[in-house]
Amino acid sequence: MKTGFFAVAALAAAVGACTGSKPVAWDEAAIENARVQMGMQIDTVESLAGEFHNPTTINPDGSVHYCEVTDWRSGFFPGAVWYLYELTGDTALVPYARKYTEAVAEAQHLKWHHDVGFMVGSSFGNGLRLTGDSAYADAMVEAARSLSTRFRPNAGIIQSWDVDPGSEREAKGWTCPVIIDNMMNLELLFEATRLSGDSSFHKLAVSHADRTLKEHFRPDGSCFHVIDYDSISGDVAHRHTAQGCAHSSAWARGQAWAIYGFTVAYRYTGNPDYLQRAVGTFEFMKAHPHMPADKVPYWDMDAPGIPDEPRDASAAAVIASALYEMSGCPVGDDKATAYREYADSIMQSLSSPEYTAAPGENGRFLLKHSVTSKPAGVEIDVPLNYADYYYLEALKRRRDSSSI
Ligand code: GLY
Repeated sequence: MKTGFFAVAALAAAVGACTGSKPVAWDEAAIENARVQMGMQIDTVESLAGEFHNPTTINPDGSVHYCEVTDWRSGFFPGAVWYLYELTGDTALVPYARKYTEAVAEAQHLKWHHDVGFMVGSSFGNGLRLTGDSAYADAMVEAARSLSTRFRPNAGIIQSWDVDPGSEREAKGWTCPVIIDNMMNLELLFEATRLSGDSSFHKLAVSHADRTLKEHFRPDGSCFHVIDYDSISGDVAHRHTAQGCAHSSAWARGQAWAIYGFTVAYRYTGNPDYLQRAVGTFEFMKAHPHMPADKVPYWDMDAPGIPDEPRDASAAAVIASALYEMSGCPVGDDKATAYREYADSIMQSLSSPEYTAAPGENGRFLLKHSVTSKPAGVEIDVPLNYADYYYLEALKRRRDSSSI
């Protein structure tokens, strides 16, 4: 493959866009910017010797961090290349999207954490959707089999994290922790039933969603991050956090996963309770007195130092993408319009220089200002590949829903 091709082609297109007489709409400029920035990222990845280098975030020294295939984030860069292909129609991207997807194939066999849905859905799932490649369908079903091994019938849920002897999780008294993020892994199970005809995957997903609906949410519509179940009785043992500022706080990305995850569960089941859950948690976020004017949440809505706390662009991108889908669901005409406008507002903020990096900066990631875990002191106010992934997905969903 020809190193340097993408950056040169994309820069030429971007210069053309800027110097032409017609003003460029924010969404077109965002796609063109993504083509430039990701073109440079692809050129960089292609220039590195050895195994696939999978861009994930930046290290404290400013260098790019490339993750291992077992990292929960390993599917997002391949998936972002698929979305860039879809947004630009540039078929030159397809061999790269395929190569990066196939480089994370090992993820389909992973059984020691729950994130195989994120990993394989974002990479193989998008590849399947766009190419119809039956080998990609096989990878999805195999990944669903791997995820199913984590189902715990006593609690009716899929266990998120293992609890190793001597670990911090064990010290917290956890035996079977489930995080709200796990709602995002259910799409893989729903898809696996659609692809294979084996209804067992769908049933596990429904069981997990039902128990999560019952246990994870507070009366105000927000959700806990971690529900730890007693692995023997299946009862709730702890309602905790891992990445939020307090057990009782509203960790922003957790709220985003809940909104998105229950919208997906509604898509596959038609269960109105799931849609109501997504609506309720979004309404909580929308009405929150700490929601900033630009609609990019603080990393935790209850962070003690607000307004001097980092934002989380990844949470904003996930919420925007979910809202474009929710606006096509039976939420009522007024809400549908309001949700789309809210999503547009988030996307315009994210597409502004405050959050979108200048070409060549920010480790060649699209968005600035996300947070992995402030309590752990890990990756605070950095780019994250999943912020970029959901941002591109939101751009695509916005475009798709405009043309209906
Ligand atoms: N699933 C991990 C996170 O959202 O940070």
